[in-house]
Parts: sequence; C-alpha cells; structure tokens
Amino acid sequence: MRALHKSVFVVNMIQWIKPILSDEGKMIMSKTIDQALQNEVDKRRTFAIISHPDAGKTTLTEKLLLFGGAIREAGSVKARKANKHATSDWMAIEKQRGISVTSSVMQFDYNGHRINILDTPGHQDFSEDTYRTLTAADAAVMLIDVAKGVEAQTIKLFKVCAQRGIPIFTFINKLDREGQSPFELMEELEQVLGIRSVPMNWPIGMGRELSGVYDRMKTQVELFNGKDHSTIQVQKVEDYRDPIIKEMAGEFLYDQLCQDIELLDVAGDPFDYDKVLRGELTPIFFGSAVNNFGVQTFLENFLELAPKPEPRRSTVGMIDPMNDKFSGYVFKIQANMNPAHRDRIAFLRVVSGKFERGMSVRHVRAGKEIKLAQPQQFLAQDRDIVQTAYPGDIVGLFDPGIFRIGDSLSQGSDIVFDELPTFSPEIFAKVTVKNALKHKQYQKGIDQLTEEGTIQVFNTVSFDETILGVVGQLQFEVFEYRMKNEYGVDVQLQRMPYQFARWIVTDKVDASKFRINSTLVKDKKENHVVLFENEYAMRTAIDKNPDAQFLEMAP
Ligand code: G4P
Repeated sequence: MRALHKSVFVVNMIQWIKPILSDEGKMIMSKTIDQALQNEVDKRRTFAIISHPDAGKTTLTEKLLLFGGAIREAGSVKARKANKHATSDWMAIEKQRGISVTSSVMQFDYNGHRINILDTPGHQDFSEDTYRTLTAADAAVMLIDVAKGVEAQTIKLFKVCAQRGIPIFTFINKLDREGQSPFELMEELEQVLGIRSVPMNWPIGMGRELSGVYDRMKTQVELFNGKDHSTIQVQKVEDYRDPIIKEMAGEFLYDQLCQDIELLDVAGDPFDYDKVLRGELTPIFFGSAVNNFGVQTFLENFLELAPKPEPRRSTVGMIDPMNDKFSGYVFKIQANMNPAHRDRIAFLRVVSGKFERGMSVRHVRAGKEIKLAQPQQFLAQDRDIVQTAYPGDIVGLFDPGIFRIGDSLSQGSDIVFDELPTFSPEIFAKVTVKNALKHKQYQKGIDQLTEEGTIQVFNTVSFDETILGVVGQLQFEVFEYRMKNEYGVDVQLQRMPYQFARWIVTDKVDASKFRINSTLVKDKKENHVVLFENEYAMRTAIDKNPDAQFLEMAP
C-alpha cells in the first residue's frame, strides 16, 4: 500500500477546460510546448460516478481510493457516508440530517495518473450542484446494479452527460448476485438511455454461479473466488473457446460463454474509440465492487481510454489546457464551510496553464486583478493549502463575496468561458417574507443565494409573485435555514403543484395559453418559462404551439 496521498479532499466541485483561440477561431497555443505542463495535463483524469442510490457508488469509490493508496482501510468512505458529521460539519443542517449537502472531490495517484473523482450526491441531497458537478467532469462512470438495471436517478444524470457529449463508461455491479442477463442490460441502455454499448468483458455465470469474467480485449479470464475475495486469478487464454475455460468454469458456463461471445462478435457493436469519446458508445465492464472483483481491470482500462482534460469554449474561442497562461472558472460556491468563520469557498476548475498559490489573476466579470492567496484543497475539515494545480484539478478559493457561479479567472486576458447551464427545476414553492420590514435583507438573501446556485428564482407574469425552483427538496431546507441564520429573515414556503419548467422560445409569448395546469413566469434574466403541473399538460402545450421551442435548459 502506498503512503496516504495528502490531497484526498472532499469538496463541492465541477468542470471545464480548453485552449485560447484567436478571433478567427483558431486555437491559440503557446509557441513552445511546456513539457512539464504537458506531463501534468497528460496524466490527469477528472470524472464523476453517476448512479442510483444503493448501486454501490460508495463501495466502488472506496475500492478505487484503496488502489490509489489514498485511504488505508476499507470502510473509510463508508464510515464517512454513515457518519458524515464526524468529518464534515460545514453546515448545521448537514449535522441535523446526517447527510452531505455538498458534492465532493477526491484526488489520488494511480499508475502515473493523477485522478480527480467528482462525487455526485444522491438521495435527498440531490441538487443542482449534482448536475453542476457533471459539467466539470471530462468523463463519467455509470454504475448500474445488475439486478435493477437503469434507474431513475441514473437517467437524470446520464442526460446531463449526454448533453455535454462526454464519454461514459459503464460498470455493471453486484455480479455476485442474480440479475438481469447482460444482453437485457445492453438492450435497456439502448431503449432507456439511447446509448449503444460494447462489452469489454463478459460474465461467466452470475450470482452463486459466478466463476469469473472473460476479458474480450486482453483475451484473458479473471477468475472469481467467492470464498476468498482477496485472491483474483488472471488466466491468459487463446480466446473464449479455449478449453482451459471449460476446465475452470465447467461445461455449462463454458458453452454459454461461447454462445454469448459468438453472438456479440456477430451482432454487437465493434469497439470504436471515436464513438466512445463522443459519448455515442459506452464500454461496459462487469464486476462486483464489494468483492473487489473486476475493479482494478476496470480502473486500468478506464485510465487508458478516458480523455485527459480537454479544451473549453470561451468568448475568444477554445482554450487549450496547454495554454501557458492560467485560466479557470468557478463552478460552485459553498457557504459556511466553517460556521465559525462564516466564510464562502468558490470552487474553481483549472482550465489551462499552471495555477500557483498567491498568483494575481484577472477576475473578468469584476474587471479587476485579484490575488489568489488562500487556495485550498480539502479532506472535509482538513484544508490543505494548494501550492500548484493543473488543468483538470479543482481548487477552493476563499471568497469574500466576490465570486459567482460561472465566473472566469485568467492570467492577463479577458477570457470568459461558456456559461454554466441552468438546469430545469422539478420542485416549486411560492416564497413570502413573514416580516415585511425585513424586505431589504430578504432581497439580499434571495440575490446571493441565487448567485450561489442554491435556488432558482422566477417571477409570475401576472401577479409579481416570487416562485423558487429547485431539483431537490433539500435545497429548500438550505434556503430557509440560511435566510434565517445569515440574513435574519423568516420565510414562508408554499409548495406549488408544478413539476416541469420549460424555457419557451417563440416570437410572441401569450400568457393566456398557459393557464390550465400551467403558468407563465420569467427567470432572473427575463426569459419566459412555463411551469407545468404534469407531463400531459406539457405535452399538450408543446403540441398546440408548434412554432415555439420548449427548452429543458435556459437558452
Ligand atoms: P451507494 O453509495 O451507491 O448508495 O451504494 P453503497 O456503496 O453504499 O452500496 C449499497 C449496498 O450495496 C451496500 O450494502 C453495499 O455493501 C452493497 N454492494 C456494493 N457493491 C456490491 C457488490 O458488488 N455485490 C453485492 N452483493 N453488494 C454490493 P448495505 O447492506 O447497504 O451496506 P453494508 O452493510 O454492506 O455496508
């Protein structure tokens, strides 16, 4: 086991990266290649694991951290999950509920790679941060329970990844349990998510019968030893018909394997790396995280196939990670990470160049130079001071209230990265302030919490009421808590029956068309948005307004 890597850190976070382009849209690169920077960029892999709760994400993360020597014992991540307040009491609400309000980042080294895993919280702590985290990832690992297949939360998270066109790698977990057949799962990926798949390995049996997996790429068998989980035997074979497999797995499973692979070879998609990179084809790996079976092979293949930090779009074109000037952007702001200090931390994804502690950078929106004096990485409360960081890395910046989500920072130029998408809320409530005298503080709180991305604010067109929209119930709780504790304002939230928000793009918006099971509102940028109570109302509106576009994200 390697020594504990210092920079395992848990934080909220997200993405981006790309080179500087000239006005003509050509990629601007430094003329001489900085070899040291190149090495740093080449070895980085920044990804998120997306899954439905209970599919085994914590377990898989833990195994990956163990391989990297970032934790010493199995159970460390689990313990954190079960007893979060022991290590992370950034917010009192987190303590009360025993859950994490924030997403997190874990960094470790493996086989010459520097890996950043972006954690995407599930369950009740599902929030817009979860989505925003995905916009910071260069690739996603989609974890699926072999028995349950594609589940609701996976679909939502998948959609965000698919929209960005990032590569998605699938790990089918819990192979030690009975589940759906691999072919059924592949079919489901295509039917439900619309993505084709290419199995990199294939199970030999399942559940109690599980005897191993056949690695199609390396033509080898990894044997599963259910009794002694620590021993994993790897046997090189000629191909799937090799009689050695029959000896190891028995005739029945051997025959089944031969039939399956023949079918896959004839009817399955061939491995096409370009399609993988475009997010059109997902490589599938089978394994069992809790048994540490198939995890290492998965990690090694993943590191080989997943992209390094890529160029990102900006107002001056694509910004390449290899650009010698530092640039990055804020994808998340976390308030009250330490209640004693009432501070805010802005999370920055490094896009290009080298980040150095104490450097002066241009805060483009504010139009001024600022010094990045206290950059931090985290292991919950243990904040490490970051000396340097490279494209793909996440840095926490002390925020005295000067940052907003999406802010661009750069060395010496006015790069502005593409805005972060605004995700469609699914839960809505009308908000009123209990004490009218507190209106000023109320407005300040609403403005700041909107900037931080805690809530989305809409105003009704007819009565000028304020409606808040969120993707997870917890966001409302955080909002109420912070309004009271930070701004001294008691608010009242009244749940509204809407479930869908669609940004409407049309020549002329007619509010009278959206009165039944729907309402017309405006977002903070004065875009028109229609809130619908149910899918039927939404479908009907779409059908009746063929000239209008109804967008899931703000235009
Ligand atoms: P999550 O973070 O996605 O919510 O899932 P988590 O890792 O907590 O795993 C959920 C449950 O699934 C855990 O069981 C875990 O042990 C189990 N699990 C994970 N991977 C596998 C696997 O490959 N095979 C089998 N059979 N189970 C797996 P639990 O009973 O909820 O917790 P615990 O008491 O086992 O820790």
